[in-house]
Amino acid sequence: MPGERSDAAEPSAQGVPLAEGGGAPAGAPEDHNDSPSEGSRETDGDQVRSERQAVRQPLQLAVFLARAGVGSRRRTDELVQQGRVTVNGVVETFPRRTIGPDDEVMVDGEPVEPRELRYVLVNKPRGVASTRSDPHAERLLVDLVPNGRTLFPVGRLDVDTTGLIILTNDGVLANRLMHPRYGVAKTYTARVQGHVSKAALQALRTGIDLEDGRTAPAEARLVKQGPRSAVVELTLHEGRKRQVRRMLAALGLPVEELQRRRYGPLSDKGLSVGAWRELTAEEVEALRRAGEETERRVRSSEAQDDLGLGTAVEP
Ligand code: URA
Repeated sequence: MPGERSDAAEPSAQGVPLAEGGGAPAGAPEDHNDSPSEGSRETDGDQVRSERQAVRQPLQLAVFLARAGVGSRRRTDELVQQGRVTVNGVVETFPRRTIGPDDEVMVDGEPVEPRELRYVLVNKPRGVASTRSDPHAERLLVDLVPNGRTLFPVGRLDVDTTGLIILTNDGVLANRLMHPRYGVAKTYTARVQGHVSKAALQALRTGIDLEDGRTAPAEARLVKQGPRSAVVELTLHEGRKRQVRRMLAALGLPVEELQRRRYGPLSDKGLSVGAWRELTAEEVEALRRAGEETERRVRSSEAQDDLGLGTAVEP
């Protein structure tokens, strides 16, 4: 239900509120095997045709490629300049070349086609499942947004967690952002029971031993300490299941309320819990860059692994 949030920004000892307010309506679910790229091809015929007409206006080659989900404008410029793109079977190295409705474009020999890509930022309410199907959930994230069932969530939030989650049909971007090892920065605000010591903050910063391994370095800050509970802000680059709750529980600080306030370059400013909005072109570009940065970190880390140099990556 839109506008579900009742808490205010100012955290105060007991019922320490976690978020800000102010927005519109929202919705939808997720599933481990969800693939944004697969699902988005399954729209009905009319929709596909009208999308094609809408996107097959003359476009510069680099824009055409970005709209096909190949990468950010900067990345698509590079691909063209590297000679990996052909137009009608001929290598094209000029990114500003105009592509008309009848031109056939390929990247590394694979045909690419722009789609009407959608990017929706939702401030998920409590009680809504971010999976695409959940027989136990009262509501699904995808149902908070019009035509949300053609979109896929980028990662997950627990049913009890509120906060930012992206819905998109851009599989390339989603996969980059969701990389399990080194994802984009995500900032959470948690209300925990107990007293948060300096040692606990330091442990969060250096890494906590969980059953699935030590956590990567995180940023941790005490926002407010009350008599029985506290508010902690944590920024992580990983996305393990229930990670924040498990990290804090390992320190004897059970989470009572958890909210994701930032996702990469995006914040919940002006978007109340239950609200959603389409991302601007600039925000999508900033996310693409964040995704490409993730990919670079993963590649460099994998190269280090291959050389036996370890995997330490600073957030
Ligand atoms: N960490 C958690 O514990 N839960 C979430 O929903 C997200 C991060």
